[in-house]
Amino acid sequence: MASNNVISIPELVPRGTSTHDHVAPKIPCLGFGTATYPLGGSDTMKESILHAIELGYRHFDTAPMYQTEECLGEAIAEALSLGLIRSRHDLFITSKLWSCDAHKDRVLPAIKNTLKKLRLEYIDLYLIHWPVALKQPGNYDFPFDKNELVALDFSSVWEAMEECQKLGLTKSIGVSNLSCKKLENLLVGAKIPPAVNQVEMNPVWQQKKLREFCEEKGILIMAYSPLGAKGTPWGTDRVMECEVLKEIASAKGKSVAQTEQIESQNTHNIDHMIDKVIMLS
Ligand SMILES: NC(=O)c1ccc[n+]([C@@H]2O[C@H](COP(=O)([O-])OP(=O)(O)OC[C@H]3O[C@@H](n4cnc5c(N)ncnc54)[C@H](OP(=O)(O)O)[C@@H]3O)[C@@H](O)[C@H]2O)c1
Repeated sequence: MASNNVISIPELVPRGTSTHDHVAPKIPCLGFGTATYPLGGSDTMKESILHAIELGYRHFDTAPMYQTEECLGEAIAEALSLGLIRSRHDLFITSKLWSCDAHKDRVLPAIKNTLKKLRLEYIDLYLIHWPVALKQPGNYDFPFDKNELVALDFSSVWEAMEECQKLGLTKSIGVSNLSCKKLENLLVGAKIPPAVNQVEMNPVWQQKKLREFCEEKGILIMAYSPLGAKGTPWGTDRVMECEVLKEIASAKGKSVAQTEQIESQNTHNIDHMIDKVIMLS
């Protein structure tokens, strides 16, 4: 049964995404990421997800490229059978459209495949993972051969994303790793504006221009790699070894990772950060 020490995580609603016939889902501010290096799910990950649910995490982030959708699906089914959550509606699940599926006729099959792996009837948020497409269908390898890259046709792919929301396969849609310019172009033709832009953001990579743009357009920023993706080939130690964060952590009797979360959710170091969601692994 659910533990008595469950933490309640505050929620945000993206502005501008609710209409008279669609209510945008609330997004828990702190999410649990499932991208590991090397990629792939495991029993350890399943146990970690179950433990996270016991602690109060309700927001989980996956993607076909991470190869963790099945593992998350198993953990959700187990959390339900153990009574850690009352219903699937208690969770906020994000998955993504990988670049090999970023072609208008591959979007619907891709989200259906995601739902099958997650054992769910709907997800809460579906994101275009990267603003590029890969030629070859079924190419989930990472890293990929750069000769495979082609331009993503945003207008037709976004229309297919909108269709996923209209069909009820996802409660909301958004993008990831988009610049202001790409977002601006997308907004011109979008009937449903993106609810979220999931991007790398942390105290040493604050992305002021993008934050201001998204704030103005009502697009919620979802921050990934808040600890600088320490331990991955593309990550950095600059957050975890940041002297200012270490000083604050020591003064408050917290770890650097805890301090980063607190600083990111307040305005001490980074203005306007209160309006973003943080994705931790
Ligand atoms: N949309 C995208 O393109 C995209 C890209 C990247 C990530 N994401 C999402 O965002 C999530 C988080 O990003 P991330 O994994 O790159 O970044 P992160 O949270 O910045 O870094 C994760 C690493 O930080 C360390 N860590 C975690 N908790 C810690 C703690 N309490 N104290 C000390 N170290 C700690 C761990 O490293 P050690 O294991 O070495 O200790 C862990 O592997 C991913 O799982 C994924 O869901 C999305």
